Amino acid sequence: MIVTIDGPAGAGKSSIARTASQRLGFEFLDTGALYRAMTLAAIRAQVDFQNQQEIIQFSKSVQIQWDGDRVLLDGEDVSEQIRTPPVTDAIRFLADLPEIRTRLSEIQRGTAIGRNMVTEGRDQGTEVFTNAECKIFLTASPEERAKRRHQQLSEMGRPLPLEEILKAQNQRDEEDRLRPMGALRPAEDATVIDSDGMTTEEVLEKILCVVRETQNSDSEN
Ligand code: C5P
Repeated sequence: MIVTIDGPAGAGKSSIARTASQRLGFEFLDTGALYRAMTLAAIRAQVDFQNQQEIIQFSKSVQIQWDGDRVLLDGEDVSEQIRTPPVTDAIRFLADLPEIRTRLSEIQRGTAIGRNMVTEGRDQGTEVFTNAECKIFLTASPEERAKRRHQQLSEMGRPLPLEEILKAQNQRDEEDRLRPMGALRPAEDATVIDSDGMTTEEVLEKILCVVRETQNSDSEN
């Protein structure tokens, strides 16, 4: 069974999807990590981000793998190195290209074959796993998401002004929504959860409830 969880940056998808997978006894796939790993590879190789053909050509020489909970770039575990601002800022140059999306979508489908999996990203329910049994779109207002990120960064000792976080987040939202392929949007058959005012535990319970309902109706049919 495949459970897709899509939604904008800062909606708490990653940690919630990971915990949901553990509670369900499913595996977890963080698809953003694959886009990040490909971007890290391009940065390391000093690819010219203005040159789409160069990016596409370069991407063919790179091996990306998802290994349980880690992302491997040509066999190297880069799960920590992909979480830096230069990577985040450059992702759009790759994520906007259909050739890159097709390649990474194939890796995602290949990883999920024959497995029970919770997959998390932007286009999971709409493009990659259109036949997924259970689709969730997890969102929250821009202000709420920025506030959560602000608190997270402060706890990590890297405080940033709230307005700055909101501005960067709005820009990322727009890039994610306007992408010609793989744009951020809920699938028609997704359950939309707006987590404003909800605790993490409440969101988790809601997701688990949706999954269990699907499992029960599947076993009745
Ligand atoms: O989920 P995360 O924030 O790590 O994703 C980083 C970026 O990768 C997103 O802002 C988006 O541009 C891109 N992405 C994507 N499709 C996915 C997952 C991530 O385009 N399925």
